[in-house]
Amino acid sequence: MTDASGGNAKRIVVAGSTGYLGKFATREFNQRGYRVRALARSVERLEEPGPFTAPAIPRAEIDDVFVGEATKPETLEGLFDGGVDIVFSSLGISRQRDGLTFEKVDYQANRNLIDLCIEHGVRKFVYVSMLGHEQIAHLAITKAHERVVADLEASGLEYAIVRPSGYFSDMGAIIDMAKRGRVYLVGEGTNLFNPIHGADLAAVCADAAAGDDLVVEAGGPDVLSQRDAAELAFDVLDKPPKITVIPLWLAYGLARFIGVLNRQFGDLAQFIVTAGEVDGVGPARGKITLRSYFEELA
Ligand SMILES: NC(=O)c1ccc[n+]([C@@H]2O[C@H](COP(=O)([O-])OP(=O)(O)OC[C@H]3O[C@@H](n4cnc5c(N)ncnc54)[C@H](OP(=O)(O)O)[C@@H]3O)[C@@H](O)[C@H]2O)c1
Repeated sequence: MTDASGGNAKRIVVAGSTGYLGKFATREFNQRGYRVRALARSVERLEEPGPFTAPAIPRAEIDDVFVGEATKPETLEGLFDGGVDIVFSSLGISRQRDGLTFEKVDYQANRNLIDLCIEHGVRKFVYVSMLGHEQIAHLAITKAHERVVADLEASGLEYAIVRPSGYFSDMGAIIDMAKRGRVYLVGEGTNLFNPIHGADLAAVCADAAAGDDLVVEAGGPDVLSQRDAAELAFDVLDKPPKITVIPLWLAYGLARFIGVLNRQFGDLAQFIVTAGEVDGVGPARGKITLRSYFEELA
């Protein structure tokens, strides 16, 4: 059977290819024999290693790089030239860079890609949202992600929604603080979650692209609290644990204050504070332990 490109390998566009998960996903799809077209705003960012062990993606190793900006559909002309079977997207704001809202990036950029998929007869869209969205439905980031999910459900495209718990990249921030001597936690830090390594999650995403499940929840092998993660970081660094708790009332107050100054930063702060309060444990699909990851970063 041949694919849209006339070859035997399926063609996939990876959106968010320069991000933490996107780099691992680009590498994973490539290793699984897909013809990968990475959508990126910057080829340099794709080629250099990302933070928290995200791999470099040498230009020569993948089929194609398309330079464009998904928030600006006029820059995406030609993205589907030659035929594309699947779009994978982990495009979204996790660290603030451009001053754009979740609505403009997490929702609208992905909506633009969905529209193009429909127009160009792409078969399937694999989208990365979040685990436990029902508990945090009021947040701007959740609303944006779940609008994408709802649009996909109504699109007529085949789709898969990947719902991960926290990422190891966020745990990298904890060991960075531990290296500086003190970890700050929002709330008591007792809420439970099972973060997953980008490489493990990329494999889950590639399985979702190949499989029939509409929703795939995923977490890592260790269920732990933020406090456990902080103590683990100190243990790996062989330092005495020093943990300071920022009470929720104060953190919410700060997030609201930040929101008055800048709505988008306020929304991001609200998300970080709320993440310090709710549990987020998914099926343990990842194999890489947080200890081994911290040992690598230490
Ligand atoms: N961190 C978590 O615990 C967690 C948990 C569940 C779900 N998620 C979701 O997973 C997704 C991926 O997370 P991640 O940690 O891999 O994110 P990341 O490292 O920040 O990568 C985000 C990607 O989106 C792109 N992007 C951001 N703003 C853009 C804009 N204005 N225009 C075009 N592209 C833009 C980035 O491109 P540039 O490199 O050009 O900026 C990058 O490729 C996000 O949607 C996040 O909400 C995260």
